[in-house]
Amino acid sequence: MADLSCSLAGIKSPNPFWVASGPPANTAYQAHRAFEAGWGGVVWKTIGAPIVNVASRYSALHHGPQRMIGFNNIELISDRSPEANFREIAEVKRRWPHHAVVASLMVETREQWHEFVRRSIDAGADGIELNYGCPHGMCERGMGSAVGQQPAVAERITTWVKEAATIPVIVKLTPNITDITAAARAARRGGADALSLINTLNSITNVDLDTFVPEPRVGNRSAHGGYCGPAVKPIALHMVQACAADPEVALPISGIGGVATWRDAAEFIALGATNVQVCTAIMHYGFRLAADLTEGLSDYLDAKGLPSLAALRGRAVPSLQKWEHLDLHFRRVAQIDYDRCIGCNLCYIACEDGAHQCIDLRTPEELGVGLGPGRIPHKPLPQVRAADCVGCNLCSLVCPVEDCITMTEVAPGGAPLTWSDYQERLARGEIAPLPPHP
Ligand SMILES: Cc1cc2nc3c(=O)[nH]c(=O)nc-3n(C[C@H](O)[C@H](O)[C@H](O)COP(=O)(O)O)c2cc1C
Ligand code: SF4
Ligand code: SF4
Repeated sequence: MADLSCSLAGIKSPNPFWVASGPPANTAYQAHRAFEAGWGGVVWKTIGAPIVNVASRYSALHHGPQRMIGFNNIELISDRSPEANFREIAEVKRRWPHHAVVASLMVETREQWHEFVRRSIDAGADGIELNYGCPHGMCERGMGSAVGQQPAVAERITTWVKEAATIPVIVKLTPNITDITAAARAARRGGADALSLINTLNSITNVDLDTFVPEPRVGNRSAHGGYCGPAVKPIALHMVQACAADPEVALPISGIGGVATWRDAAEFIALGATNVQVCTAIMHYGFRLAADLTEGLSDYLDAKGLPSLAALRGRAVPSLQKWEHLDLHFRRVAQIDYDRCIGCNLCYIACEDGAHQCIDLRTPEELGVGLGPGRIPHKPLPQVRAADCVGCNLCSLVCPVEDCITMTEVAPGGAPLTWSDYQERLARGEIAPLPPHP
């Protein structure tokens, strides 16, 4: 069986699944329950000077039957006292010596950072996570994403923390920034031992069209909130890969954002993460999720013949290249499996109105196919004109039937030619300009 144990900058845990800083990591009671359910680590709900929260705090984007595809919150850091939090961290650490317990911190002055770092160490925390990411409430007070958005400030505060820290320091980055690597490099210059990303994205999930107040509503007002959950995973994957591929960052990464399944976790690890953290999915499904995550990831590694997480880590990083390095002659076209096609014609409409008008409608008799399972009677069926298909993928994305449209690789349009090669060879007069699409 594959080895799921991992170490993030020296912080060891029995598996790569950590509870992210947030409501599920608010108390010792929850940390005990998380570890009993199989989580490998907990990053405590951010500790700082006392704050007051509002009611209500959360809103969500639902899509069809899928609840909470995106989740939004205007919650601040912990509203419990630092004393209670540090006392409970010590209690949890005593009972779970082999699990990771990380103190997430957010304070203002150098003296406060030193004090909270010392209190984390005294409580027995395995590491410290610096919350430079919260995009609401705290940033207006000069903390959270207000720090993460200014590399020079992030670097300075990281150096303050490192002056007092004797345990690993993880800098948690905000995605509300143009270039995540600028913040990541600053964290490294400040002496960070690891990065975690992403925190939440600035968002408004909806507007009540009777009251004209967005949710979450606090009286007759609302506020911008932090967005997370499955909808943000693509943004998080992109940012994790960008940091993992940057030689000037060169720090271990804890991947966060929309992790709900073992596949999500495997993707983060393949793009360079050492472990992953989960918040929204636990708020949705509870700590019991850990069993599926660990079993699924372990089975996947076994099936792939990978002995450990290290063997998976970063394997997808080099395949991400600049657009100019992609082969202009690579070809693939849509192919329809008529044993699966139900004749809904969504692919036809999409290609006709939104792509390249290369799907024709034919009768089943013209195509020589019978009435397959689930097919809508009397409906014409789509047929792809392969010679005109530009291989954009749209029809396969809109098709509601699994594996019904396959994008199939066909003979390339010529010898491999990237855009940068093309420009150089064109300038040297070695090749003729490629013809424009008709
Ligand atoms: C209600 C809520 C409260 C959060 N509070 C914190 C916090 O106190 N400190 C912090 O660093 N991140 C906080 N986060 C951000 C999460 O740790 C995480 O970065 C983000 O939600 C993305 O992960 P997810 O998609 O798994 O939820 C909070 C998230 C939510 C939903
Ligand atoms: S891949 Fe794009 S161009 Fe080809 S048939 Fe589908 S929608 Fe049309
Ligand atoms: S979208 Fe899929 S199921 Fe619907 S007609 Fe096209 S190929 Fe058939």
